[in-house]
Amino acid sequence: MSSYPVSRPRRLRASENIRRLVRETQVTQDDLIQPLFVHAHETSPIPSMPGVFRFSVDNLLKEVEELIRLGVPGIILFGIPDTKDEIGSEAWNVDGIVPTALRRLKTTFSDQILLVADVCLCEYTSHGHCGALRDGCVDNDATLPLLTRISLAYAEAGADIIAPSDMMDGRIGAIRKALDTNGFSSRILMSYAIKHASAFYGPFREAADSAPQFGDRKSYQMDSSNSREAMKEAELDLQEGADILMVKPALPNLDLIYQARQSCHLPIAAYNVSGEYSMIKAAVANGWLDEEKTVTETLIAIKRAGADIILTYHAKDYLTWMNR
Ligand code: PBG
Repeated sequence: MSSYPVSRPRRLRASENIRRLVRETQVTQDDLIQPLFVHAHETSPIPSMPGVFRFSVDNLLKEVEELIRLGVPGIILFGIPDTKDEIGSEAWNVDGIVPTALRRLKTTFSDQILLVADVCLCEYTSHGHCGALRDGCVDNDATLPLLTRISLAYAEAGADIIAPSDMMDGRIGAIRKALDTNGFSSRILMSYAIKHASAFYGPFREAADSAPQFGDRKSYQMDSSNSREAMKEAELDLQEGADILMVKPALPNLDLIYQARQSCHLPIAAYNVSGEYSMIKAAVANGWLDEEKTVTETLIAIKRAGADIILTYHAKDYLTWMNR
């Protein structure tokens, strides 16, 4: 490679047309999944996530129709139940909020959009932890059968992709086996494989009313300091039968997205989580950041790091800007 003055990198930046031709990374509708919250009440805004709502089932259907029109390939659904108990039994109620919403969505839209169902107990347990407790600790092995029950209820109701976010050991293998032995071998498993105990989930916990009532999630979600451990988690979920591996949150873990992309042949998803969304929204509301440019740069960074799929609350806005 020759150096200056023969080499002048600015030549390839001189106009928008040449920049278009040499652009290496673009985020399109094919990359995005929109997270959506649903409950059995009127639609209400989520104060810490401007522009995001807890939808009634009827309004959820309208929102999804709009997302299909914008070209979004998938949504991930989070339910907010009316009742909670020690073991989160409302989560596998076949007439609960998520199965009800899934059935309506499947009947209405058939295969026009992929229905991803987040599988976890924290929205459904009175203590807000992601599993059953024993002696004040989340009991891994007692939680696995609960997660498989939830997964089967969601698969039965029409979920195309089951996405466990609980971080119990062995849950991918347990859920894969349960799906396969109950006639759901074609359903996809997207594992929240590398999920840190992160402060960036703060707004989500307000949205889903799922904050732990005591302690924290550090005995099951990962320590954000560790990258070798992250690759171990990815490897285990691959062995247990995951189809897609997720890294979460996205922006503080671009290195892990890159490493997972390099070391594994499965598609890699990245979750641009609630706190990442709210930071941009807050700065935009103050007039400190340009929303469209900041969101575009953020999504490009996540894709450039190696994500094939980005779960983001910005999906609808981003595609609205793209389609303009
Ligand atoms: C449920 C779950 C959480 C998120 C996705 N699934 C919260 C948590 O683990 O505390 C976070 C999503 C976000 O912050 O946008 N376990």
